[in-house]
Amino acid sequence: MQQNQSIMITNPFIINGEIPTEYFCDRKKESKNIVQMLTNGENICLMSPRRMGKSKLIQFCYEQEPLHSDYYCFYIDIYHTTSLREFTYTFGRQVFNTLKSKSRKMTLWFVQALKSLSADFGFDPSTGMPTFSVSLGDVSRPEFTLEEIFKALEQADKPCIVCFDEFQQIANYPEKNIEALLRGHIQHLGNANFIFSGSSRHLLTQMFHSYTHPFYNSTSTLVLGPIDLNEYIRFATHWFNHFSKQIDAAIIRQVYQLMESNTYYIQKTLHELFENTNPGGTCTIDQLPTIIDNMIEEQSTSYKQLLSMISDRQKEVLFAIADEGKAEKIMGAQFIRRYSLPSASAVQSSVKKLLEADFVTFFDGVYTIPDVLFRMYLKRIGGKE
Ligand SMILES: Nc1ncnc2c1ncn2[C@@H]1O[C@H](COP(=O)(O)OP(=O)(O)OP(=O)(O)O)[C@@H](O)[C@H]1O
Ligand SMILES: [Mg+2]
Repeated sequence: MQQNQSIMITNPFIINGEIPTEYFCDRKKESKNIVQMLTNGENICLMSPRRMGKSKLIQFCYEQEPLHSDYYCFYIDIYHTTSLREFTYTFGRQVFNTLKSKSRKMTLWFVQALKSLSADFGFDPSTGMPTFSVSLGDVSRPEFTLEEIFKALEQADKPCIVCFDEFQQIANYPEKNIEALLRGHIQHLGNANFIFSGSSRHLLTQMFHSYTHPFYNSTSTLVLGPIDLNEYIRFATHWFNHFSKQIDAAIIRQVYQLMESNTYYIQKTLHELFENTNPGGTCTIDQLPTIIDNMIEEQSTSYKQLLSMISDRQKEVLFAIADEGKAEKIMGAQFIRRYSLPSASAVQSSVKKLLEADFVTFFDGVYTIPDVLFRMYLKRIGGKE
């Protein structure tokens, strides 16, 4: 996320990759708060529903002072990792790559610190800098390597911030002691603070709020909410006008409400509206249904895949909740009759699985499908696919 003015942006509503600071909407309070907490030595658990903007917010915070100048900030996305070995490999590689762009001295020193790897780092003869030529298989003793990485951070010449994004992933590793192992290292570090972020409220709450888990009470939890509507209106209007296009605040408001304030879906819709408005022209609302159809169509393969992972009985309950929107008393006779469900106990066991998989959330007696586009899709196919 660099302030690189030379990048030619043709659409200011960025939906893929890094967001240069000027195209990043708001999050002033949130970023100030996060930077303050980290520089005060706190560790943070950052949660939100999917696509609310956690990962981009963390990267935005890393660009703020004093983090940008006075800290080493590491961002490690562990979404694709499935074992301690992969975790360690991804962590080590990311620390290496970040240090390489910041400090030659620290990079060389980090390479020295990783003694347990059964391979040597390569060297780029043109720069004299090491290259990360280590492969996953070279991490033959991940517990030792992990310890070496943490030790290196502890001894770095600047304080460190480490974000493990999609942290809930560690719950799926085959090794059973990962939470305790990480907690053991982290609690002894004086030179590093951590952000654990993810969208699985279910798993993260268990890890950080259940007293039987090692991370219990070890972090301050932040739940990231939506971007404020007025901030978004200001942002979107500004960028339309900047490119000599007009948009009525009422359209932005309508998109915001339709997308239930989900940052990505709003941003994606505005991206399309912007693209379909000619310079000198005014954005019209009549394109909206087609844009939404296309968005659902784009996602339909992955939605089908998701549905193929659950049983027919779970699907029936999911369709019923989608149809209801906000579903209450789903184990009651009325709900069961309305959707021809088999029995209260069948609904109970199905919804348990749906909650665990984050297809459904439960709050204040109400079951909902948090992903608004997925809900639209389910309503459209109405259980018939
Ligand atoms: N402050 C912002 N300004 C403009 N667009 C934003 C902002 N924050 C997020 N976005 C948009 O939303 C998308 C999703 O953001 P991000 O990847 O940070 O969400 P997330 O909460 O990490 O999602 P997931 O739970 O899927 O990991 C971004 O690619 C971008 O298009
Ligand atoms: Mg993310």
